[in-house]
Amino acid sequence: MINHLPVYLVALSALVCWTPVIGSGHYEPNWDSLDKRPIPAWYDEAKFGIFIHWGVYSVPAFGSEWFWNKWEQKLKPYVNFMKRNYPPGFTYADFAPHFTAEFYDPDHWVDIFENSGAKYVVLTSKHHEGFTNWPSNVSFNWNSMDVGPKRDLVGELAVAIRKKKDLHFGLYHSLFEWFNPLFLKDKANHFQTRYFPVEKSIPELYELVTTYKPDVVWSDGAHTNWTYWKSPEFLAWLYNDSPVKDTVVTNDRWGDVMCKHGDFWTCHDRYNPGHLLPHKWENCMPIDTGSWGFRRNTDLSSYLTIEEIITILVETISCGGNLLMNVGPTHDGRIIPIFEERLWQVGRWLKVNGEAIYGTKPWTHQNDTLTKQLWYTSKKNSAGSVDVYAITLAWPNKGLLRLGAATATAQTQVTLLGYPEPVNYKQESSGLLIYAPLIPTSVMPCQWGWTFKLTNLKQKYPYQQFDF
Ligand SMILES: *[C@@H]1O[C@H](CO)[C@@H](O)[C@H](O)[C@H]1NC(C)=O
Ligand SMILES: *[C@@H]1O[C@H](CO)[C@@H](O)[C@H](O)[C@H]1NC(C)=O
Ligand SMILES: *[C@@H]1O[C@H](CO)[C@@H](O)[C@H](O)[C@H]1NC(C)=O
Repeated sequence: MINHLPVYLVALSALVCWTPVIGSGHYEPNWDSLDKRPIPAWYDEAKFGIFIHWGVYSVPAFGSEWFWNKWEQKLKPYVNFMKRNYPPGFTYADFAPHFTAEFYDPDHWVDIFENSGAKYVVLTSKHHEGFTNWPSNVSFNWNSMDVGPKRDLVGELAVAIRKKKDLHFGLYHSLFEWFNPLFLKDKANHFQTRYFPVEKSIPELYELVTTYKPDVVWSDGAHTNWTYWKSPEFLAWLYNDSPVKDTVVTNDRWGDVMCKHGDFWTCHDRYNPGHLLPHKWENCMPIDTGSWGFRRNTDLSSYLTIEEIITILVETISCGGNLLMNVGPTHDGRIIPIFEERLWQVGRWLKVNGEAIYGTKPWTHQNDTLTKQLWYTSKKNSAGSVDVYAITLAWPNKGLLRLGAATATAQTQVTLLGYPEPVNYKQESSGLLIYAPLIPTSVMPCQWGWTFKLTNLKQKYPYQQFDF
């Protein structure tokens, strides 16, 4: 990836070659030191990833992946669901043998993900229920090899993803477990004891990293004190000594440091601030708006439409985020066709408009001042100047698009991605007026958002400022 480094960085690392290479310094187990680590470049360039929530909760597939918790809380719909459908005395653990995964074909999943245009995939290795999707050393009889699938779900996906050169493999891991007796014991001790992290969660993390070498470690556990997990110790190992020290990226949920520490910030689920942040961030978002895990009691209106997804993708990228879009496979290992269709549609859109997404940086403006639903990204071109991408989520009314944020120079050219002819424009005092070409619907590049590419604008590119 050296050819993607800015020239000054390459030059600098050549000059100081007697010290450790820039970007792989030695990190101390404290947030000040850990926060100084530059994020490996692949992550910001990738922009779009797929999240997968899959576990024992995919068996009842009712309500959400929080099924066990809600049932324990004796919430009516869950209690009634159990009463109506399962014999008395049926426990949550009894669902595990029905987590069969007989249709789980990781190569097929990976084809679906690749066709979506995603550049990374993050699978739940373990959710709050504690069931590990790999044969963990420290999850005796509550893992996918001993019960249910009798397979290493994590390992099989890792192998399938590594066959594709453009996809990075990542793992989600829940630090805490709702009902683990050790966790409950620590909780009863007001987290002054650390039985659970020492014997369960932290060994799992080391095991996952050494065995599967994920490029993303997506931790979940924002509602507990980070000192209880001693997460900086694990992160210092991850960044200094682990097999993925040069490629791995992490999020911000290592205890109560969400939106404060970590490589990229997730802040809260479905985070989409609508403005630029001074830090790399990620919008994690399920296609079924009501659940991350697969649920049977859903309906079409709960699924995001492709128009909504493209809008969220464009807003997110324009404001410096990555989008991690979630699907929930069924207990038997299928990605149902509506998820597949949404992923295929995003892929179709990215085939035309991906140039305005992958490898871009935020521009001086994120959205336009005159035209609503229009978002900008930018990219340095090979001539050393900047291409600006104006992505409009609505086809311009009467074919006239007014950009308040862009000013043309004599060298400016305007094109529409996916359309071969140059596009006419006129500089007016109020802004740039673009005459959208008259295109028959049958040859419209892609109907959920259109990208006008603007070269050699008057506005300069604040490259350093937004180099995360
Ligand atoms: C599992 O535990 C055994 C015994 O403690 C250890 O030798 C082995 O390295 C562990 N495996 C992993 C992948 O951590
Ligand atoms: C977290 O734990 C540390 C050490 O036990 C304590 O000093 C700190 O006040 C706790 N933070 C919060 C927010 O409770
Ligand atoms: C730009 O985006 C922000 C945040 O979503 C919004 O408040 C503002 O109205 C937008 N501006 C225009 C002109 O649409």
